Amino acid sequence: MAASLGPGAAGRWREASDGVGGLVADSRRVAVLVSGQGSNLQALIDAAADPGSGVCVVLVVSDRADAYGLERARRAGIETAVVRLEDQPDRPSFDRALRDLVVRARPDVVCLAGFMRILGPEFVRAFPNRIVNTHPSLLPAFRGAHAVRDALAYGVRVTGCTIHLVDEEVDHGPVLFQAVVPVQDGDDERSLHQRIKLEEHRLLPVAVRLVAEGRVRLDGRRVRLDGERNPP
Ligand code: GRF
Repeated sequence: MAASLGPGAAGRWREASDGVGGLVADSRRVAVLVSGQGSNLQALIDAAADPGSGVCVVLVVSDRADAYGLERARRAGIETAVVRLEDQPDRPSFDRALRDLVVRARPDVVCLAGFMRILGPEFVRAFPNRIVNTHPSLLPAFRGAHAVRDALAYGVRVTGCTIHLVDEEVDHGPVLFQAVVPVQDGDDERSLHQRIKLEEHRLLPVAVRLVAEGRVRLDGRRVRLDGERNPP
């Protein structure tokens, strides 16, 4: 794990009274898991840099050492770590290693921002209704790792993104936000995914902040947002 360089552009800090003699963030703490480009992570970092945001990205973890998201985190002065499935004896050990690492960061919310591994129950149960995922389709349509490709192949006229809480089923938890993205003639997977990502970048930071602030209540699968009159 890289050394912590402090809050980077994100956090507001005050003198600690937690007995460790350092500084603690006044902000809500966000841990982010990435596997690839990290454009959604960048949206979170940029949103947290707003002095009024009240959130701070405190840890970025990847299952791939070459994930560009790690570079984005390092540039922002955020602590990074890599946990690779290949380095663990089995799948539950991977889940536990990841869980223990993230627990140590004391996050108010965990965000899956293009994390391409399915998280096992041991991880999910450690952060009940505190894990936010973004998925590039209008769930429950097109679950899985190839949502944009599958939507194009199906011939849908509209698709989009879903920001949702994570439960123990893949791409399944309660829906926080969705945005519709029309499919254009001539779209390929890349062009459509780019437009979907613009919507993810807009919605994900809002969802993460609301969960971090404890302003999300569940009524069965339905999400109620305290004090949010006009969801984005
Ligand atoms: C996003 O479209 C997300 O929905 C999906 O993977 C993509 C990650 O993109 N799970 P990036 O790494 O944030 O650019």
